Amino acid sequence: MPAKGMFARRTNWNLEANRLSEALTAHRAAGKTLIDLTLSNPTECGFEYDEKAILGALQNRQALKYEPNPRGLAVARRAVAQYYAERNAGISLDDVFLTTSTSEAYSYVFRTLCDPNDELLIPEPSYPLFEFLADIQDVRLIRYPLVYDYGWQIDFHALEQAITPRTRGLIVVHPNNPTGHFVKPEEMRKLNEICAAREIAIIADEVFLDFVLNEKHTSTFAANSGALTFTLSGLSKICGLPQMKTAWLIVGGPQPCKSQALARLEVIADTYLSMNAPIQWALPSLLSQRHIFHQQVLARVRSNLRELDKQLSAQKSCSRLEVEGGWNAVIRVPATRSDEELALELLAARGVYVHPGHFYDFPSAGYLVVSLIALQNEFLNGLKQLFLFF
Ligand SMILES: Cc1ncc(COP(=O)(O)O)c(C=O)c1O
Repeated sequence: MPAKGMFARRTNWNLEANRLSEALTAHRAAGKTLIDLTLSNPTECGFEYDEKAILGALQNRQALKYEPNPRGLAVARRAVAQYYAERNAGISLDDVFLTTSTSEAYSYVFRTLCDPNDELLIPEPSYPLFEFLADIQDVRLIRYPLVYDYGWQIDFHALEQAITPRTRGLIVVHPNNPTGHFVKPEEMRKLNEICAAREIAIIADEVFLDFVLNEKHTSTFAANSGALTFTLSGLSKICGLPQMKTAWLIVGGPQPCKSQALARLEVIADTYLSMNAPIQWALPSLLSQRHIFHQQVLARVRSNLRELDKQLSAQKSCSRLEVEGGWNAVIRVPATRSDEELALELLAARGVYVHPGHFYDFPSAGYLVVSLIALQNEFLNGLKQLFLFF
């Protein structure tokens, strides 16, 4: 066993498998039937992709040349700017940085804004990857609560209380994962006001922005000018192509903060130059195929939500929270035990795998999260087993 002192404290994680993933591995190893209601890898959900167009786009001869550019090739950034132009947001090519994932984009932003132990505000509940991203970049996460009252909203009082002199950024996930709610225009206005006054940057994760069930709430932060803003998105969700490892970061906001941010980011991006040429040349073509993917996802999400509502209406113990967009639904269940215990019991007794709410930092027991892009038949059968349990 090597001495603990050989390693950085930041990597001193508890690396033991949690009880649920251990149980899942054992369940699979025993060859037992499994209905996975967490399936969210779009390439495994039975969607149709234009294979010829995708693979063809990766064969551009221009990719034989090496043209290093910290922001990424102009041809690819132009395609990103066009994506926002179609949402009526004017983006300059100089404000776009291409990255290999939104996670990488987060790390560039954290490094640009934060010294060790500086703080970033994150919504609660939200997406679990933030913990690791923050540990790796030596920043501290402070949670601000979202409250559910006929729909999710930001608790602005608690958010303002969470700000300290070390707060450097405020993360919004728009729409949030797993709650599926968007930041409303009035909330955007308040966030700008708070962040501009306290010199805090907004970091907006918009990977699910295109997946909206109600046409009202789709404005992007990419053209936000009220406070220094970093907007993140990428092909993982927009095109259902996580394997292509392509994302971006848009810088916006008032001068001179914006120019400072661009200049600093340029050094970080130039140090890594992490984008490869074939994917950058392919980006215009890949992005143009998103509409076919969106249609299929939205049809799946709507159909699964209808099925969920149908099964919910036939029982009395559970209900679901409102969904405005995204790929998940949150089911409210009797809080008779911890969500982890419940997920373990559902797996053992019914062969159904769901995510417990605590995985996403729900503040109390009584929430399960299911994927709305799961295959329809699996979804229907999985829900049947789930509701039979209660
Ligand atoms: C809110 C959110 N942001 C970012 C990501 C990851 O995106 P990427 O594959 O570009 O790192 C996910 C993945 O599930 C996500 O849910």
